[in-house]
Amino acid sequence: MPKLQLGVLISGRGSNMKAIIEACQSGVLEATVKVVISSHKQAKGLEIADGYGITTFGLDINSYANRDEYEQEIVTILKGHGVEWVALAGYMRLIGNPLLSAYEHKMVNIHPSLLPAFKGLNAQKQALNYGAKVTGCTVHFVDQHLDNGPIILQKAVPVLEDDTVDTLSNRILEQEHMLYPKALQLIAEHKIQVQDRRVKIVEDV
Ligand code: GRF
Repeated sequence: MPKLQLGVLISGRGSNMKAIIEACQSGVLEATVKVVISSHKQAKGLEIADGYGITTFGLDINSYANRDEYEQEIVTILKGHGVEWVALAGYMRLIGNPLLSAYEHKMVNIHPSLLPAFKGLNAQKQALNYGAKVTGCTVHFVDQHLDNGPIILQKAVPVLEDDTVDTLSNRILEQEHMLYPKALQLIAEHKIQVQDRRVKIVEDV
C-alpha cells in the first residue's frame, strides 16, 4: 500500500507532530510527513521537525493581506509537497475556505477533550472547572466549525481528585500521542467510512 503523504500544521511545541513523525519512522504509521508548517515562526515544533530532516515553513499571517491569502500560501506549499492529508496538531488558527476546499474531508485535528464537550481553548481546564469525572481526547475531521467534524477516535481519561490543569493535561497528552497516529493509520489503511456525522471503521473497503 502506498504511504499516506501527510502535511502537519502546528503553532507551538509540536509534541503531537513529534509523535506522528516517530510513528512514521517506526513503521507503526504507514505515512510520510512531507512538510510541517507553523503559524508561528518561533514555534519549538519547527526545530523538532528540522531535527528529523523534514521541510518546514513558519508563516506569519501579518505578512499577508488577509487570511485567505495566508491560507492560499499554505495550500500552495502543501500541494507543492504532494500532501494528500493534513493533520492539525496544536494549530491555533481557525480554518478558512482555502484550506477547507483544498482538503475537504482530508483534514483532521486532535482536541484534548471528549467532544462535543469542552470545545475551544483550555479544554482541560474547562473539564476540571466543570467537575467532569472523565475527559480525554478526540481525533476528528475538520469542518467549517470549531472542533466540530465527524469523530474518528476518542480516548477517555479519568479526572483524579487531586488533578491540577498540568497533571490532567499531561495524562491526556500521553493518550493523544498514541491516539493520533492510530487514527492516521486507519486513514492510511483506507478503513474509514464517513456517513453524515458517523465514522465507521471497516476492515476491508
Ligand atoms: C494538544 O493538547 C492538542 O490536543 C491541542 O493542542 C495541543 C497541542 O500540543 N489541539 P502539541 O503542540 O502537540 O504539543
